[in-house]
Amino acid sequence: MSFRQVYDIIERHHRFYEVSIPLIASENLTSLSVRRCYVSDLGHRYAEGKVGERFYQGCSFIDEVEDLAIRLTKELFQAEHVNVQPISGVVANMAAFFALTKPGDKIMALSVPCGGHISHDRFSAAGVRGLEIMYYPFDYENMNVDVDKTIKVAEKEKPKLFVLGSSLILFPQPVKELSEFAAQISARLMYDASHVLGLIAGGKFQQPLKEGADVMTGSTHKTFFGPQRAIIACKEEFSETVDRAVFPGVISNHHLNTLAGYVIAAMEMKEFGREYANQVVRNAKRLAEKMHELGFKVVGEHLGFTESHQVAVDVKEFGGGEKVARKLEEVNIILNKNLLPWDDLRSTSDPSGIRIGVQEVTRLGMKEDQMEIIAEIMWKAVNGKENVEKLRNEVADLKKEFSTIKYAFEESKAYAFPELR
Ligand SMILES: Cc1ncc(COP(=O)(O)O)c(C=O)c1O
Repeated sequence: MSFRQVYDIIERHHRFYEVSIPLIASENLTSLSVRRCYVSDLGHRYAEGKVGERFYQGCSFIDEVEDLAIRLTKELFQAEHVNVQPISGVVANMAAFFALTKPGDKIMALSVPCGGHISHDRFSAAGVRGLEIMYYPFDYENMNVDVDKTIKVAEKEKPKLFVLGSSLILFPQPVKELSEFAAQISARLMYDASHVLGLIAGGKFQQPLKEGADVMTGSTHKTFFGPQRAIIACKEEFSETVDRAVFPGVISNHHLNTLAGYVIAAMEMKEFGREYANQVVRNAKRLAEKMHELGFKVVGEHLGFTESHQVAVDVKEFGGGEKVARKLEEVNIILNKNLLPWDDLRSTSDPSGIRIGVQEVTRLGMKEDQMEIIAEIMWKAVNGKENVEKLRNEVADLKKEFSTIKYAFEESKAYAFPELR
């Protein structure tokens, strides 16, 4: 066995992605400028504590990096306070639960079939905190929280926290309405922006902090341009509890190499975020429209299908989400099966839907014309209308022109081992 075998596996993975269409809604690519930071010495160090108040020596340059990260994040989200140390979205949520609740508190969250993330539920971070979860009444027609019914439940149950933001998120959610109500019952509102963080930074989605959220968490690698980590932004009054919940609550090492990468990603967002976020939403809408025209049952037709990077499709008539996702993988279109609000949680292994995200192909420069081609290939693949080999070639031909990362200070190849200098 040689260490080169590992490089060989990575190389094969890269070659696979070179000929594939990546449509997983929680993933994205990082630019070469960001990736260089990963292999720096920062990845070998610790910097517990805050800027200027570290527990170890040797942190002066790390302080400079973290200070930049804080300043840029505040600016991007117009936040009173931010913490850039969480190493993932779940960790950020865990810290927010620590900061905003006590064990035994009731919280309201979206159920997983209605789009909620597992970390908002009893079997993950919220459960670990000992919270009692109540699910929002959900309005299937509008693919959103039913505000009136929620308020009726909350008047009686008096939850301490409302969690908004989700994994299946097509439309802005009622942050303003529920944060106003939360204030009346001395509850807080937290918005998990993991999926839409890049759209928020690009001014193309709701602005949770402005609309009244007390705390906003979010991973930095879905619609945002960053490495896999997360941020928390909050009102000043929560700054100390949030910081303490992050360190020493849920973080010791905060992965300083990717923190530096995050700084560059935030700079890219500041420079290119508006144009990118605009194109992401246009692409998602076009893909949804074309899929609908072809005969797919795309969710949210009367609402214009989507206002985010996501498209949700009910594929029950084609055998369900599991079968369809596998069929598409055969032609190198990569996406995931997904529960839809009308599914039972017990059908997790074979839900009726698929979820599509166009943020990564947008970062590769694709526009509305390419969305139409993708929809057509999907239609042929799902209907078994064309030979698989032929469709795989169509996918590879389309992808050939789109393997360079855009919306970046230096354009770079998406699937090459980066040359560092
Ligand atoms: C809404 C939401 N929150 C949190 C997470 C978890 O983020 P991470 O994978 O960075 O821990 C996800 C993951 O997809 C998510 O969809």
